[in-house]
Amino acid sequence: MSDVLSPLHPTKANTPGGEPRTIRTSNAHIIAVTSGKGGVGKTFVSANLAAALTRLGLRVLVLDADLGLANLDVVLNLYPKVTLHDVFTGKASLQDAVVTAPGGFHVLLAGSGMVEYSRLTPEVRNQLIHVIDTLAPNYDVVLLDTGAGISDVVLFSVSLAKEVLIVATPEPTSLTDAYAAIKVLATQQKRQNMRLVINQAIRPGDGRAITGQLQQVLNRFVNTESGLPMRLIHMGDIPADKAVRDAVMRRQLLLQATPGCAASLAVAQLASRIKSMLPAPQPE
Ligand SMILES: Nc1ncnc2c1ncn2[C@@H]1O[C@H](COP(=O)(O)OP(=O)(O)OP(=O)(O)O)[C@@H](O)[C@H]1O
Ligand SMILES: [Mg+2]
Repeated sequence: MSDVLSPLHPTKANTPGGEPRTIRTSNAHIIAVTSGKGGVGKTFVSANLAAALTRLGLRVLVLDADLGLANLDVVLNLYPKVTLHDVFTGKASLQDAVVTAPGGFHVLLAGSGMVEYSRLTPEVRNQLIHVIDTLAPNYDVVLLDTGAGISDVVLFSVSLAKEVLIVATPEPTSLTDAYAAIKVLATQQKRQNMRLVINQAIRPGDGRAITGQLQQVLNRFVNTESGLPMRLIHMGDIPADKAVRDAVMRRQLLLQATPGCAASLAVAQLASRIKSMLPAPQPE
């Protein structure tokens, strides 16, 4: 991992959770995987999507951006010696904190149970910017596995991403919270479009119908700066599948444990859609 560190790139000043920053010197597609309600499957989607994108030949980094309550390590059965916390406090280098996950992608794990990351301090903000600016140029895709909701820390990590992938389940509580998060991101971060994946879908067509309903409410009640409606892009459905829980219990990637199950196939399809939205690679 000798090429992980490259010179720090210039950054644009930003207010907490405000307009998305431009990572100007990086071609990496930075995607925040976020949600309104907690426990809807962000970490499961981030880890398995990263594995699926890696299979498609992309260089992928997943950053555990759920700073206070990190658990990407649990899902991946990793026991990190060095975490983002050690990098933030100057105890370790970024180079030592990036590790390879079972799916072949890279991860940067955060520590868990640290109350200092429940608030967005200038230090946390600057450190996150530094970490992402430094690492992003080495990857095609960087996934930010964020916490749930609309706290300052979550909104700020989402503001570092070019694209937002909202994870929601068909439950009314999840959809109400997804709508609230989308509304905040559309207005605060002036996002013109966001992507939606419906996880734990029950019936085929769930996601398309839900996206249509959310879009109608957004059209009525959310004004974007351009005056055009905020566009919600349906990226697919991942069915509720017992194999997911089994894989999480065994601390395995679903794509490795049961690659042929319905949820694995849906994640692979999501990866193909994401790959197709990336810019074509530039000649060296
Ligand atoms: N498609 C699915 N089918 C069945 N169970 C699922 C599915 N997706 C997620 N789950 C279950 O939901 C649990 C929570 O998922 P996960 O930890 O990824 O959610 P999260 O959104 O990251 O939570 P948090 O908001 O706490 O970070 C998983 O451990 C798994 O048991
Ligand atoms: Mg999570």
